[in-house]
Amino acid sequence: MLNKKIEDALNEQIKKETYSAYLYQSLSAHATYIGLNGSANWFQIQVQEEISHAQKIYNYINERGGKVKLKAIEQPPFEFENITIMFEETLKHEEFITKSINELMDLAIAEKDHASQIFLQWFITEQVEEEDNVNEILNSLKLIGDSGNGLRMFDKELATRVFVQPTV
Ligand code: FEO
Repeated sequence: MLNKKIEDALNEQIKKETYSAYLYQSLSAHATYIGLNGSANWFQIQVQEEISHAQKIYNYINERGGKVKLKAIEQPPFEFENITIMFEETLKHEEFITKSINELMDLAIAEKDHASQIFLQWFITEQVEEEDNVNEILNSLKLIGDSGNGLRMFDKELATRVFVQPTV
């Protein structure tokens, strides 16, 4: 049976992961609007990843005999100055999620919930990869600078990203 404090924190994390999907959906829509279809695809894949993260936590709460309680999702921003700012927002958001996952792990340790610690380990590893991916994109955008052609080519690269269903 899931400890109540951990159940509440996991329900809060479902909300954060679902908001992440909503935020990336908004970024994808804006990328399409400004003609960067590859970037739009990258954000679409991110949407699917976030939904799968929320689902993973949902399944875990159920498996442990807890109660899933879905919460209201706030409106994400929908205007962004340029593509670099869009990825900077992405990194900032992922850092916020990393902090939240780390706090969840701290709670699982404090509550001596070993199963939750093992479950959360996957998310800790995933966050390292998420931040690394966005940092790499930001480094490429820095190198591209003001080159319209460079951005066009890079956007084509982002069009190749595909969704891979994560496994625990
Ligand atoms: Fe589910 Fe991008 O963190």
